Amino acid sequence: MQPPEPHTLVIFGASGDLTKRKLVPALFDLEKQKLLPDNFKVLGVGRSKLSDQTFRKNMEEALVKFAYQKSDESTRYDKFIKRLDYISFDTSNPGDYHILTKKLAEIQKEDNTHGNLIFYLAIPPALYIPVAQGLVAEGLNQSKNKRWRRIVIEKPFGSDLQSSLDLNSKLLQFFTEDQIYRIDHYLGKETVQNIIVTRFSNAIFEPLWNRNFIHHVEITAAEDIGIENRGGYYEQSGALRDMFQNHLLQLVALVAMEPPVLADPKSIRNEVLKVFESLRPMNEKELMQSIVRGQYTASTIRGIKVAGYRQENGVNPESRTETYIAVKFYIDNWRWNDVPFCVRTGKRLPTRVTEIVIHFQSAPHHIFSTLTGILEDHNQLIIRIHPDEGLLIKFGMKIPGAGYKVQNVNMDFLYSDLVNIYLPNAYERLLLDCMLGDPTLFTRGDAVECAWKFVDPILNYWKSYPDHALYGYPSGTWGPKEADELFEDSKYKWRYPCKNLSNDGIYCEL
Ligand SMILES: NC(=O)c1ccc[n+]([C@@H]2O[C@H](COP(=O)([O-])OP(=O)(O)OC[C@H]3O[C@@H](n4cnc5c(N)ncnc54)[C@H](OP(=O)(O)O)[C@@H]3O)[C@@H](O)[C@H]2O)c1
Repeated sequence: MQPPEPHTLVIFGASGDLTKRKLVPALFDLEKQKLLPDNFKVLGVGRSKLSDQTFRKNMEEALVKFAYQKSDESTRYDKFIKRLDYISFDTSNPGDYHILTKKLAEIQKEDNTHGNLIFYLAIPPALYIPVAQGLVAEGLNQSKNKRWRRIVIEKPFGSDLQSSLDLNSKLLQFFTEDQIYRIDHYLGKETVQNIIVTRFSNAIFEPLWNRNFIHHVEITAAEDIGIENRGGYYEQSGALRDMFQNHLLQLVALVAMEPPVLADPKSIRNEVLKVFESLRPMNEKELMQSIVRGQYTASTIRGIKVAGYRQENGVNPESRTETYIAVKFYIDNWRWNDVPFCVRTGKRLPTRVTEIVIHFQSAPHHIFSTLTGILEDHNQLIIRIHPDEGLLIKFGMKIPGAGYKVQNVNMDFLYSDLVNIYLPNAYERLLLDCMLGDPTLFTRGDAVECAWKFVDPILNYWKSYPDHALYGYPSGTWGPKEADELFEDSKYKWRYPCKNLSNDGIYCEL
């Protein structure tokens, strides 16, 4: 692959967590694979007063901890960090941006980066517009002729429909839509991209991929950790805003979308938008009955005492913020009419796992019995996003011997079986795509707004009915049992996902 054109990557919030844990390690991983151009600089920007040396030293320590690839003679940490510079100024003051312009001119002169710039906003969302205004004041936002300017925005893209509309409309005063790259790191995951490859490069799945053969779709994104030290952020967010509105609806879109005409950004993103436009708005009864929210309580997990959400730092002791949510909803279009999508996410669940389960319809007529009497009488396709990335199909097979007894078996594909294949991490893939000017895996403004249109009534309902049930669940369990009642037919229940994808049923690692 051709490396991107020469450019400078300006990271706002360079003293923060995202820069050290994800961005700079991902850049090193790209360097190691020779995917960065020779004329490439990273300019860290922040209010913290750091010298180039201190910033580089901090980043070298971060590389040791967080880079996937390790330093060696061909690509050494100490050599790579020389690509990094740092400047400090008050980023909320448009009058200070001349400092940035001056530094960029120096870099341009020394490193010949062709005037191409990416501005990565790894800062609190309240600063997105002030920073964009600062860039405009210096004319740094304008792509001209072959010279390009791009801006990368981290989630959250608004905290409700109105704020997302405001954010998009303000950004569009300063940048054109094709300059704006809204990052949802889930889309950078190899296994997430593989959803559309599985669907649209094989003829065996797509004929079954509709209401005639699929009973329901289940998506789980479970975390075993709590909110760590992010109480202040999480109190304002909760699971609905933090996970459901963005990452999980993106997964829904890839599972539910129509085949795009081409594998290009416009075709794929148009299909994503169509899914969001087809989400059936929930009426008051559904808002009450089809959503279960929960909050983790104190418990002992494998002998270790863990605090409940309300005891965490920065959390109101009477907080009603949800750390778990399960939602059942529908997509009103020809393909998915009346097929339930059941999606759940939560913190302090038994393990960290994200997967999609396609539950096919049961065989229409049962003529075989089982040894145990227990048979999942429907096939399942499990798309494992992480860990133990891969695909698993569950189906019934004859038990060898006399008669016709059936048992469930698994057939799987695991990425780990591919030898010598390097799975790039999400930020590595997304940074590279942005450098190459490919927005396919970035969220378009209209899709963000449309996702909020679906989620906004849920927020409004909770605001109007603050006493609406919020169930406590002990840390280390699979959330409130009320979530099981989302399935109308009691023979269906949430899958019990283990860390290991294959051999589940025989051995379950948590
Ligand atoms: N960390 C993650 O894994 C992650 C994942 C998804 C999304 N995000 C998003 O990425 C952005 C950055 O996250 P982060 O975790 O790196 O945050 P962080 O550790 O708090 O760092 C934010 C940086 O922004 C700078 N900043 C500038 N003005 C600020 C202000 N008025 N108040 C506070 N900080 C200010 C700070 O640097 P100076 O003080 O030096 O200016 C700070 O280093 C956020 O929008 C977050 O929602 C982060």
